[in-house]
Amino acid sequence: MTHDPEDRIVSPVVAGDEQAVEAALRPKRLAEFVGQERVREQLSLVLQSALRRNRPPDHILLSGPPGLGKTTLSMIIAAELGKPLRITSGPAIERAGDLAAVLSTLSEGEVLFLDEIHRMARPAEEMLYMAMEDFRVDVVVGKGPGATAIPLDIAPFTLVGATTRAGMLPGPLRDRFGFVAHMDFYEPAELEVIIDRSAGLLDVRIDAEAATEVAGRSRGTPRIANRLLRRVRDYAEVRADGRVTPELARAALELYEVDERGLDRLDRAVLGSLLRKFGGGPVGLSTLAVSVGEEPETVEVVAEPFLVRQGLLARTPRGRIATPAAWTHLGLTPPTPSPAAGTLFDVDE
Ligand SMILES: Nc1ncnc2c1ncn2[C@@H]1O[C@H](COP(=O)(O)OP(=O)(O)O)[C@@H](O)[C@H]1O
Ligand SMILES: [Mg+2]
Repeated sequence: MTHDPEDRIVSPVVAGDEQAVEAALRPKRLAEFVGQERVREQLSLVLQSALRRNRPPDHILLSGPPGLGKTTLSMIIAAELGKPLRITSGPAIERAGDLAAVLSTLSEGEVLFLDEIHRMARPAEEMLYMAMEDFRVDVVVGKGPGATAIPLDIAPFTLVGATTRAGMLPGPLRDRFGFVAHMDFYEPAELEVIIDRSAGLLDVRIDAEAATEVAGRSRGTPRIANRLLRRVRDYAEVRADGRVTPELARAALELYEVDERGLDRLDRAVLGSLLRKFGGGPVGLSTLAVSVGEEPETVEVVAEPFLVRQGLLARTPRGRIATPAAWTHLGLTPPTPSPAAGTLFDVDE
């Protein structure tokens, strides 16, 4: 492998050394949370009505791609309710007993954040169903025919589940959430507000036009916006007096190889190869991957989704094809299709 996808500057996944700075940038209350207008309004109603009834709100599922604010929202939910927050994740729950240990120690009204809930072990799922519905778990003691289930009451709590793969949640689990928030990518204008806010917290002076520049390259993702902001800040501090001007922002992003649309080196390599070596396709995934020296999985999982979302690449039954926008974006001229070959873009359904 030539490439660790998690190391990319445009990776939506949190990098190891990023946790502390991310924590410092998290909005603490709903009113500070930028964008996601609909989710915010819906959530605000759910929380306010729970407060009014003095009851824990329905269980809440936050669904959406990495870096859009799911963990942040879970913390906000606890803060708005004025309740403690317990954090765990699907992969940490390997056995039902792990979940029982968490559930049985929750306090009244506590918010339990279960990140990556789709990765929880199956046997724990059954226990979670019962806990969500009846605030009760059956703890199994002993093994084999002599095993007995001891019912245990647990304090009424609110489960906040987060998932990047809502489709992978079993129906019975999804059905037990009273409120499902679908989070979508942010608009550049919203990212600009986030960048301004973060710049304030990090004591970075950034010109409005420079914030626009960074926002446009952040792939609709606050985590990436905050990361790019820190990189342009570094650049402005070392190469200039620290103030991020549009010129400095552009130069820094060029150095880090993040282009105007937020494509990085890998994205551009894939797209460039598709255009230059295969005339825009169609070409099979493995052939395309070999041509850029990557594993097919890296190309498919790491590069393609964003290229597809940007309307630069399409996956068709005959292979990958570039769209006209791809040629324009890389500054290339598409070959004129020979009439006999049909058009380049007649995609089969
Ligand atoms: N709506 C938002 N407003 C301001 N900052 C945000 C927003 N959403 C996310 N962020 C910031 O982006 C980073 C990633 O958010 P996080 O909640 O960890 O995403 P997720 O859990 O969905 O991967 C955090 O530093 C957070 O402060
Ligand atoms: Mg998270």
